[in-house]
Amino acid sequence: LQSYIGHIINVMPSLLQGAVITVEVTSLSVFFGTIIGIFMALGKLSKSKIFHYPSVVYIDFIRGTPLLVQILLFYYGIPGLISSVTGEPLRIDPILAGVVVCSINSGAYVAEIVRAGIQSIEKGQMEAARSLGMSHSQTMKDIILPQAFRRIMPPLGNEFIVLLKDSSLLAVIGVPELLKSGQLYVATTFASFPVYIGVALVYLVMTLTISRLVHYSERRLGVGND
Ligand code: ARG
Repeated sequence: LQSYIGHIINVMPSLLQGAVITVEVTSLSVFFGTIIGIFMALGKLSKSKIFHYPSVVYIDFIRGTPLLVQILLFYYGIPGLISSVTGEPLRIDPILAGVVVCSINSGAYVAEIVRAGIQSIEKGQMEAARSLGMSHSQTMKDIILPQAFRRIMPPLGNEFIVLLKDSSLLAVIGVPELLKSGQLYVATTFASFPVYIGVALVYLVMTLTISRLVHYSERRLGVGND
């Protein structure tokens, strides 16, 4: 038991460094994912086929395939394809690749969150604004989206927590995030039990903290009071 505690104490600094990368990658990905998601939701809701179909294909492909496969496809598959065409070896930075894949992945889930939020706003809101002479896109931007925003916040907080945990899959391409930091320590010490318990606890502290923060900001925003 003493040696287990010793390992936990020894590995903790690297785990915390890894946790910083985990939070950074997740924050960037949910940020870019939200931007992608808003456009893809509008695309999916659009009556125009050129916007509708690409959004639907993107959302279906991303949500219908495992994140782990998307990571491997993007980090090994696509660079491999490009270098077989150009004849030049192509290596991309694992952290950059991680942020790109997780942003693209998150975008598809956020798109469905945003679409549901928009569709939850009563039809009369659109009709009233249109009858006052506002254009469709103006109404979307100034009337519908601001109201949908409050309903979108809670599931967006949930998306952050899901991606924080699933970003551990980036360990397979060598992103030095929380899980990878633990694995590196296990590789030299074989102390798998204390290290993986430690990794789990650091994830747990982060997810509990975030869900409390989300809960608190929901109450401040008055979500659910409408
Ligand atoms: N676990 C699922 C997968 O492997 C979801 C991944 C990401 N989820 C998310 N909400 N961004 O495909």
